[in-house]
Amino acid sequence: MFYFASNQLKNQAMQNINEVIQARLIANPKLDRKALAIELNTTDNTVRANFISLISKKIIVNYKTIKKVNKAIESIGSVFDVVKEAKKQAKKQVKKENNTYVNHDGVCKEEARVKIVNSIVESGVIGLAASLPNTGWVIEQAINNKVKGIEFIGVERKKVTFNKMRTNLRNLKKDTDIKGETYFGNIGDILYGKLENTYAHLILDYCGNLATISKELEYCINNDVIKLNSIMAVTFAKPIRGVDFQSDKLRQLGAINNTDDRCQSDRSVEAYFYKICGWNYQVVEFFYYKDRYPMTLVIIKRIK
Ligand SMILES: C[S@@+](CC[C@H](N)C(=O)[O-])C[C@H]1O[C@@H](n2cnc3c(N)ncnc32)[C@H](O)[C@@H]1O
Repeated sequence: MFYFASNQLKNQAMQNINEVIQARLIANPKLDRKALAIELNTTDNTVRANFISLISKKIIVNYKTIKKVNKAIESIGSVFDVVKEAKKQAKKQVKKENNTYVNHDGVCKEEARVKIVNSIVESGVIGLAASLPNTGWVIEQAINNKVKGIEFIGVERKKVTFNKMRTNLRNLKKDTDIKGETYFGNIGDILYGKLENTYAHLILDYCGNLATISKELEYCINNDVIKLNSIMAVTFAKPIRGVDFQSDKLRQLGAINNTDDRCQSDRSVEAYFYKICGWNYQVVEFFYYKDRYPMTLVIIKRIK
């Protein structure tokens, strides 16, 4: 009887302690469970058992798990952000690679185009003109609107740009009487090895640097690849970098006295073209404009 009573008391005490533990844990699930066990003069296991029971009944949540879940969500989020950013960059890259020339309307670019068109039209020379039309065939269309008898060979080295360029020419041919064909590759492929008088005009609207194009320019001039009175229009980035051999050569050529207030690039470029033109070619115009980047247009005419 006494044994039964003491057991009953024990059970009651246990129930009370469990209720207290649970009440304390519900009030603060983050409570230090070891400290709670000491405070209530009970074991760690008793507190832990109550904690687990409350979690399994979904009365409280385990904050450690929540923290882990949150961290996981955060990291998934950041993975998403990384993937999103990577996709964005990839899209930008593709756009860049698809068509390297996107600034069709740079400051005075149109003026530069007009100068090219007029010099070719005014030359009176007709025949085959090699050009870099990008996708728009802007200069070529303007020439065709003013003079008949010039056929174009449009060259492009970027595949995606080339495909668009070819499609656009096909469409233009449906609506206008423009005549031309396309070539996929480097413009040098259709310049080097060409005989005297092969081309009526060369519309070399590059977007590169003079140092990388100078050899083909010199080849064309030295071999009279264009006809008498024909035009060779060349565009390239204006700044001349001093790091490569060509630039240093240009700098030497451009060494003019201190009273000349043009920048060193202008002087170097002009000196270079006067030199390569020799006796048979004449510089018709130097024109500086902006096409996302400061640019130079040089119009050269074969005079002999
Ligand atoms: C400045 S954009 C031509 C712009 C065009 N003439 C206009 O008025 O809108 C130059 C184009 O020629 C291509 N290009 C540049 N250098 C080239 C080279 N050496 N051979 C073939 N294509 C080249 C570029 O990829 C670009 O599409």
